[in-house]
Formats: sequence, structure tokens, C-alpha cells
Amino acid sequence: MVLNDNRRIIAVADPVALAKAAAERLLSRIAGNGDRVAICLTGGSSPKQLYELLGNEPYRGQIPWDRVHWFIGDERFVPAGNALNNMRMARQAFLNRCAPLVNIHPMATGAADPDEAAHRYETELKSFYGADSLDPARPLFDVVLMGVGPDGHTASLFPGYPATDEKERWVVGVPNAHVEPFVSRVTLTLPALGSCHEMLFEVSGADKRAILTRVLAGEDLPAGRAVSVGETTWLVDRAALPENFREQ
Ligand code: 6PG
Repeated sequence: MVLNDNRRIIAVADPVALAKAAAERLLSRIAGNGDRVAICLTGGSSPKQLYELLGNEPYRGQIPWDRVHWFIGDERFVPAGNALNNMRMARQAFLNRCAPLVNIHPMATGAADPDEAAHRYETELKSFYGADSLDPARPLFDVVLMGVGPDGHTASLFPGYPATDEKERWVVGVPNAHVEPFVSRVTLTLPALGSCHEMLFEVSGADKRAILTRVLAGEDLPAGRAVSVGETTWLVDRAALPENFREQ
């Protein structure tokens, strides 16, 4: 089903089907770009199954690892080896086994503070992109993966926080999180996350249904404001699907 603002919702049976559907979409975006590919990963628990699929056949053999670059949309400001580190989860699930080290782009959580880490990541993204401002006709990323938190946050863009309104910066530091884990964060902003051919949300489980109902009803929440300059797809499993979308 397509919402009136061009966001598409795709309902699937369960978390297994969700991870497969996400892997298929990711592969088709990679296949559609014969040049250098940029994927922006997300943290949280939702994408873990997808990451494991990507690191195993039949998906692994279909990814041209040498020309795919892996970024992270937000990071907890903890050391790279800390269990809370988002890129660590992606590395352990598939990147360390599959991707060349130079194609993995973690945030510098060893920097003095989250602002410094944000500044460094923004510089890295600008250098990768080859320009200091984003051109909607030439998106930064092929795919940006996203999740939604219980308060409607996405990446580390929390409701009512200034980072959510940021229009100029590509990456900002977030001193305090609004939900667990209560560690400082570093996050891409909405303009940077939206600079992609496809933004792909993964939402599963009954505990996501309440917040998804609010987001899809149009409440002003960060996850609802997050849209791509290209396509925005919400992959949702049956347990998370709001009541009013079930009959459609
Ligand atoms: C993080 C995330 C965050 C996450 C949502 C959903 O660092 O925590 O990037 O935005 O995607 O909170 O998390 P779950 O997938 O664990 O529900």
C-alpha cells in the first residue's frame, strides 16, 4: 500500500520473511548500480537477521564486496569493541567476514566527544561523496536502513531534540539519549539520511504496533519525518502492522 506522501508499506508474515524481503531489496539496489555502492546500516536489534543473511549464501555470493561501502546511520558513543556499539554488531554479523576493511566506515567513537566524532564522520562522508552539499539528483547512499524506537525516534533522532530539526549539518552529536541505552550518540541528520535512492525501515513485533500506528497516522515524530529523496519503504511484519492497515 502507498501512503499519500509516497511512502510505501510492504506487509510480510514474520521476522524471517522481513529479513528476506529486506535482503532482496538491498540486492536489487546493489545490482542496479554498476559503480561504487554506498549502504548506510542501522543499529538496534531489528536488522541483525538481515545482516546474517547478507553474510551467507545465497546472498553473500551476489554482493560485489569490493565496490560496496558500508556506513552507519547512528552510533552509541562507546568504544568500537563495546557490546552496545552498532557497527560492532554489523561487523560481527557479516562485515568482518565479507567486506574489505577499507569499505567499512565506522564512526570514531574514540574521539574526544560526540561532536568531534560527528565532525569527523561528516568530513568522511563529504569526501566520499565528493562535494560539501547534497544534490537531490545524486543521492549520497544507495540504501539507508532504518528502525523505529518506542518513542518514535529513528537513528538517534529523538522527538523534540534539536538534532531532529538540523538542516545544514550531515552528522551531529547527541549528548543524551531519550531511551535506553542511555549513552551519548552520534547521528546522521534527516537531510543526510534522506539522501538515498531508497530508505528502508524494518519494523517487526507486536511491541512496535503502537508506535507504528502513531507514525503512520501522521503524528510529528522523527521516524515520520524521515523520508528519502527517492523511495521510502516500510517493511512491516504482521505483528507490528496497525489495525487499520490489516484489512487493506
Ligand atoms: C540505535 C538505533 C535505533 C534503532 C531503533 C530500533 O542505535 O538504537 O539505530 O534508532 O534503530 O531504536 O531499535 P530495535 O531494532 O532494537 O527495535
